[in-house]
Amino acid sequence: MNLPVNLHEYEAQSRSRLAAMVEAYYAGGANDEVTLREAPRAWEELRLVPRVLVDVSAPDLSTTVLGTRIALPVMTAPCALNRMAHADGESAVARATHALGTIQVLSTMASESLEQVARATSGPKWFQLYCYKDRDVTADLVRRAEAAGYAALCLTVDVPVLGRREREVRAGFHAPPGISIANLEKYGNQAEKLGGAPQTSGLASYVASRWDASLTWDRVAWLRSITTLPIVVKGVLAADDAVRAVEGGAHGIVVSTHGGRQLDTVISTTRALPPIVDAVAGRAEVYADGGIRRGTDVLKALALGARAVLIGRPYLWGLAMDGEAGVRHVLELLRDELTVAMMLTGRPTVASLGRDLVA
Ligand SMILES: Cc1cc2nc3c(=O)[nH]c(=O)nc-3n(C[C@H](O)[C@H](O)[C@H](O)COP(=O)(O)O)c2cc1C
Repeated sequence: MNLPVNLHEYEAQSRSRLAAMVEAYYAGGANDEVTLREAPRAWEELRLVPRVLVDVSAPDLSTTVLGTRIALPVMTAPCALNRMAHADGESAVARATHALGTIQVLSTMASESLEQVARATSGPKWFQLYCYKDRDVTADLVRRAEAAGYAALCLTVDVPVLGRREREVRAGFHAPPGISIANLEKYGNQAEKLGGAPQTSGLASYVASRWDASLTWDRVAWLRSITTLPIVVKGVLAADDAVRAVEGGAHGIVVSTHGGRQLDTVISTTRALPPIVDAVAGRAEVYADGGIRRGTDVLKALALGARAVLIGRPYLWGLAMDGEAGVRHVLELLRDELTVAMMLTGRPTVASLGRDLVA
């Protein structure tokens, strides 16, 4: 079989590898999927202004995130239940991500425990945190992430309620047999809560029963008080909120629409990013995700001020196609495309990427 030559081909070819319900869960967005469709288009529509006759013989894609050097400014985003794509699950994603010299952000909703995934590689890793109504559960997840060597906590703040993903609802999404939210097992049988029924998403009822919809900025302060790990707030789209996060002690912000899975018709990451970068003014690092499918998309996000980007679905496609090797190949494709894009725009280093690159 010929390997896919780009991420679009990974998307198309991976579809047949996934059970219909899983495909609906991975691919879907909220409601009319306006935000989902708009995300890749928004990057695509930005036009580049290259510079010529620059020595680009030694392109350098490396940068730092929260003080850690990464070889590629692309991280793997927290996505729930990776074992639905491939039996090797989050550990395979961790190994592939670290093979490319970058960072995996592991989801609270992973299908392998954070301890197990930590043992899979020695590379740097972050843990994505959802806040449970039971604060002891949240605090214990934080302690476990610290003990297992995670270098940052990525607090996701855009899910006070699960967006209504109609494909997920139609498919009656539930956790397939043998797959559970491994991180939560020690607090009771959480897998049961992902049971589905016709015309419902098992995840929506789980979120409604377990996660804390009363979360406010106070909780960021609480989190700050219980950990010394840097906090990255994920799911910020308003510049005022970004400033609030920084003032509350966040070291990083992920500008994100949650892959178009939460509020449909929300402002795109592409449009939200520049005002947030301006408002944060270097006081924290700003990352971006949503619809990144090409090296030029990465380039544009960095040019608009993102320190690095995250990819979600693309690595799930790679995982579904060929486990660890598939994820590695997806990242290699992005790396190679980014290298060519940097050379063709006369920007051989990440530091040389500025807003003047985008028309
Ligand atoms: C199947 C799936 C599961 C996700 N699960 C989580 C999660 O558990 N925590 C989280 O913060 N974001 C989650 N996200 C959002 C991703 O972290 C990321 O923001 C998004 O996928 C980026 O858009 P992209 O898929 O277009 O790259 C999920 C996304 C997908 C597609």
